[in-house]
Amino acid sequence: PTLGLDLVEEILELKRTRNAVILAHNYQVKEIQDLADFVGDSLGLSYQAARTDADVIAFCGVHFMAETAKIVNPTKNVVLPDLEAGCSLSESCPADKLAAYLEANRDKHYYVVAYINCSAGVKALSDVICTSGNAVKIVQRVPADRHILFVPDQNLGAWVMEKTGRKMELWKGNCYVHVEFTRSAIERIKTEWPDAPVVAHPECTYAVRLLADEVCSTEKMITYCKESPAEAFIIVTESGMLHRLRREIPGKTFIPGPTDQCACADCRFMKMNTLEKLHAALLNLEPEIVIPEPIRARAEQPIRRMLEWSA
Ligand code: 13P
Ligand code: SF4
Repeated sequence: PTLGLDLVEEILELKRTRNAVILAHNYQVKEIQDLADFVGDSLGLSYQAARTDADVIAFCGVHFMAETAKIVNPTKNVVLPDLEAGCSLSESCPADKLAAYLEANRDKHYYVVAYINCSAGVKALSDVICTSGNAVKIVQRVPADRHILFVPDQNLGAWVMEKTGRKMELWKGNCYVHVEFTRSAIERIKTEWPDAPVVAHPECTYAVRLLADEVCSTEKMITYCKESPAEAFIIVTESGMLHRLRREIPGKTFIPGPTDQCACADCRFMKMNTLEKLHAALLNLEPEIVIPEPIRARAEQPIRRMLEWSA
């Protein structure tokens, strides 16, 4: 514990000398959430990154999130504690495959809406970006005469189609963590907690979404659970969210959504970041996010459009 405390103090000291800001996603380990300047969902983190005046952004999340921060801050130093912290969803839509698909379907004149969980290369091929927190609003703003290609999450895309009534073509990608939640596993936990509303992330499958009382982004889960009269909630998303909810709403009970194998679901990529790696990143100013300028500049346009449309 003493070492842990020293480490936290050293990180905070480095943060001051580097004039750094520490941004953390809701799925980060609790030690990181507890010392971050801001903890939130992809949307909140994008806004924080766009408005910071720090010289260094230590991004505790996965690669595409740190990349997004770099795209809107080309002159700042953006570090990710573990460069291997990727995302299965982002991997499911490589930029070269998307480029080939768009080329082969030029006649369709697609309007590409990309969920933020994708690489800078995919963002550079897109018209607008969205997150789970604003996807419905963003899709509603797309000109009605355009045919939408939604990449890379088919579950989130299907949910957005239901909410907006807008037809879209969906890229067949998914998040390996959220598709682990099954109908039978959620039905089982519901019998143990019959009064607890089920709150699920839109990356979950349709079968699981059908059992949910609320489907929303991680940040909106906080608001929903705060405002609901219920005392206990079944939270169907990555396990880090439970720490955020318990810290923010200490009087209520949060039960992790189980999978068929486990009592909760961890994202192995999100969990790669540790206090030790964060310390090293602030000390060495690496691993640093580097993006070729033409890709960065092209990827910035759809991000700026998102920030404007969802303001
Ligand atoms: P949120 O933007 O809702 O936090 O989702 C991010 C994510 O990676 C979900 O798996
Ligand atoms: Fe990607 Fe899924 Fe992990 Fe989110 S939880 S970062 S979508 S693999």
